[in-house]
Amino acid sequence: MTGRVEGKVAVITEAARGQGRSHAIRLAEEGADIIAIDACTNFPTVQYDMATEEDLQQTQKEVEALDRRIVTAKVDVRDAAGLKAAIDSGVEQLGRLDVVVANAGVGTWQNWDNTSPEVWQETLDINLTGVWNTMVAGAHHLVAAGGGSIIATSSTAGLKGTPFLGPYVAAKHGVVGIVNMLANELAKHSIRVNSVHPTGVNTKFVTQGLGDMDALIGRDPELGPLFVNSLPVEIVEPRDISNAVLFLASDEAQYVTGLQLKVDAGNCNR
Ligand SMILES: NC(=O)c1ccc[n+]([C@@H]2O[C@H](COP(=O)([O-])OP(=O)(O)OC[C@H]3O[C@@H](n4cnc5c(N)ncnc54)[C@H](O)[C@@H]3O)[C@@H](O)[C@H]2O)c1
Repeated sequence: MTGRVEGKVAVITEAARGQGRSHAIRLAEEGADIIAIDACTNFPTVQYDMATEEDLQQTQKEVEALDRRIVTAKVDVRDAAGLKAAIDSGVEQLGRLDVVVANAGVGTWQNWDNTSPEVWQETLDINLTGVWNTMVAGAHHLVAAGGGSIIATSSTAGLKGTPFLGPYVAAKHGVVGIVNMLANELAKHSIRVNSVHPTGVNTKFVTQGLGDMDALIGRDPELGPLFVNSLPVEIVEPRDISNAVLFLASDEAQYVTGLQLKVDAGNCNR
């Protein structure tokens, strides 16, 4: 099937690399134009490098190679006013907005008694407040358009007590709460609001961002199995998550709202 989101415009945060870039390409393959947003900067409490402006340009090239239009903006999702201005500008240039993918998130790994107030706050600010800012900035356009789809990236850690990820777990559970709340408040505008819950995905979040995860599990080996999937796959690919995002963005999901869609190879079911 092609053209599953033909004529739609989607805003995607964290679009410079990883899952965000994959979502941009997958939606563009199926006919959408893209507003791609990324901070392209590092953060004091996050131990691995974020994307660069060159990464964001690469996303732009890959979407344009599919003959779709794309507007990019370098904005931190914590900056509500900057985010609103970037989305407003993208909508003005591309003519409409149908889909909001609030995909922002960083990983901060440590055990509970080694979680500094700074790590707690920065993780919550990016992973929860940033998602809220994105949804709100986008929702105004969807209300004006008379409908649309909002998709937030949570995690298996938004559904279970994944160890060594305290503030991340708090934020990702919080995302589920605001998704369910907004699904109620926005239903009268024909706006659907859902979350996706990936297991480990092959991005720099995992390949560079796990910190001293092996040491943490080494000290608490009974917790290791909590990271194991049921299906025989250690880690999934960004496109596996993009296919779920595509479904939720498309009219195929026209009556799907308030859903926590797990793409977790059975991780949460164990
Ligand atoms: N990779 C995994 O295993 C996994 C599993 C479950 C959920 N997730 C979630 O998936 C989402 C995407 O992560 P990924 O795997 O693509 O990681 P990634 O590290 O490859 O990409 C993160 C991107 O986000 C951008 N970014 C970070 N903070 C930002 C901010 N404040 N404002 C704007 N952009 C910002 C970075 O520049 C980078 O481009 C995140 O919400 C993450 O929590 C990831």
